[in-house]
Amino acid sequence: MGDDMTATPWWQDAVIYQVYIQSFADGDADGIGDIAGLRSRVGYLSALGIDAIWITPWYRSPLHDAGYDVSDYRAIHPRYGTLSEARELIRECHAAGLRVILDIVPNHTSSAHPSFVEALRASPGSPARSWYHFRAGRDGGDSPPNDWLSVFGGSAWTRVQDEDEWYLHLFDASQPDLNWDSQEVRAEFEDILRFWFDLGVDGFRIDVATALMKAPGLPDLGYPDGAFLADLTRPNHPHRDRDEVHEIYRSWRKLADSYDPPRMFVAEAWVDDADRLSRYVRPDELNTTLNLFYLKSAWSPASMRTAIDSSIAATASVGAPTTWSLSNHDVERVVTRYGRADTRRIPGVSGPELGPVDERLGRRRARAAALLTLALPGSPYIYQGDELGLADAQIPPAARQDPIWIRSGGRRWGRDGARVPLPWTTDGGSYGFGDDGAWLPQPAGWGSHAVEAQDGDDTSFLELYRQALRLRRTHPALGGTNAVTWHDAPRDDVLLFTRSPGFGCVVNFGPVPAPIPLDGQVLLASDGADFDGLLAPFGAVWLDLDHATARTRHEEPGAR
Ligand code: GLC
Repeated sequence: MGDDMTATPWWQDAVIYQVYIQSFADGDADGIGDIAGLRSRVGYLSALGIDAIWITPWYRSPLHDAGYDVSDYRAIHPRYGTLSEARELIRECHAAGLRVILDIVPNHTSSAHPSFVEALRASPGSPARSWYHFRAGRDGGDSPPNDWLSVFGGSAWTRVQDEDEWYLHLFDASQPDLNWDSQEVRAEFEDILRFWFDLGVDGFRIDVATALMKAPGLPDLGYPDGAFLADLTRPNHPHRDRDEVHEIYRSWRKLADSYDPPRMFVAEAWVDDADRLSRYVRPDELNTTLNLFYLKSAWSPASMRTAIDSSIAATASVGAPTTWSLSNHDVERVVTRYGRADTRRIPGVSGPELGPVDERLGRRRARAAALLTLALPGSPYIYQGDELGLADAQIPPAARQDPIWIRSGGRRWGRDGARVPLPWTTDGGSYGFGDDGAWLPQPAGWGSHAVEAQDGDDTSFLELYRQALRLRRTHPALGGTNAVTWHDAPRDDVLLFTRSPGFGCVVNFGPVPAPIPLDGQVLLASDGADFDGLLAPFGAVWLDLDHATARTRHEEPGAR
């Protein structure tokens, strides 16, 4: 790649675009996204102005959880293509200046993985079973070994047919948890990492990075009768954020650092305590962690500012950069969430239970949020389709595929609404996603959000993202990892910060126009409408403070 690899490590402020491969672009017209489709859109991605892509699991898998149930970590699922196509894709991305991050799923394999198939065949107590968590059931084998619950709902144990033993799965029954006390499991995963690093992959997102180690003896959590969903929030949790997990990541970091250039890791770590979260990114551990404080925050000035400050404080305390994301494939899209009266992300609930959605409002807020996010120091993540302003789609019950929907017997909607194939063209059988048809139904009118519809339209979401990403590359204050300086705003519903040299970002969370309390030239506004020199309702602006305009200054900001 063209840039100087010895300068600041690229991952410290990289813009990372999440490719949900089955819904990105379909190259072979079977209705499912694939590597061929992705390769055909590398130009789109590099023109967008991102630095790297993170590709969700593309490995061989029975696809009970969209590929997070891997049956061969060294093979590409045939529906996505072949290993040689993967190699070509990596080469083409590198040639276009894009890094490639894959998703590694170390907490569990698929139940179709040869090691689990062998473990099932082997007898209780045999070495083959030591790769997983097999235990004798209680009540003579009739009840699960403990009271743990699956993150997707229901017991975290499934009984082996014709036996008293059960196996542990913190997710779906098709995703048995690996036993990370096993040295063989550890060696196997380091070998998998090497396999992909040798192929040129630049890093990994670590799926459920906090869950690998379990407390000795697998003690009960003491759930009340009738509990259905795993509670992940308790201190000293027996299957979350155990201290022993860090040893694994120290070893992985050594492995990644042995490459030239060094490879990187980003942890998926749903940890609510900032100090506990920071442990994952200590200097000898993982490079970055996804930022779930920011992703969960309500769209309000106080909540966003707290999320920003606590995220920066947590990672800065160990010298790591912060990351930012507004959505991903596991949560509602930002337009949908921000279109509600309550804009927080409420775990375990989705769909209409959360109240009506005003998508127009959600889009205005999401545009402002895009400018806020891309102005922050560190590394922002963009979930595919967020740059088009897509909202969650309503998936008819018969078409839903998420194991959350299935395991809950239809009580929880699951995540399919955020995973609908992208619209590339305004019409056509699948709006240019492929030739015809898409594995999840695209709603009527999907084409109005298509890349084709937005390309070249200065008022579009896509052009807002493109312009913001272009500026982020060229403005000396943007990118990087230096701090933000907050300033007093004229009103409680306005947030205002500057970054040096000469950059300001002002966000109006309220429904009425607000004065822009800084002298500067508007570089970019989330809302192009003219509000008489005022900041649009639900809008944000970027300002070049070194080039003040003749615009009247409304109020002097006082640095806090
Ligand atoms: C992570 C993934 C999610 C998956 C789960 C189990 O949270 O992001 O999609 O269902 O892990 O692997």
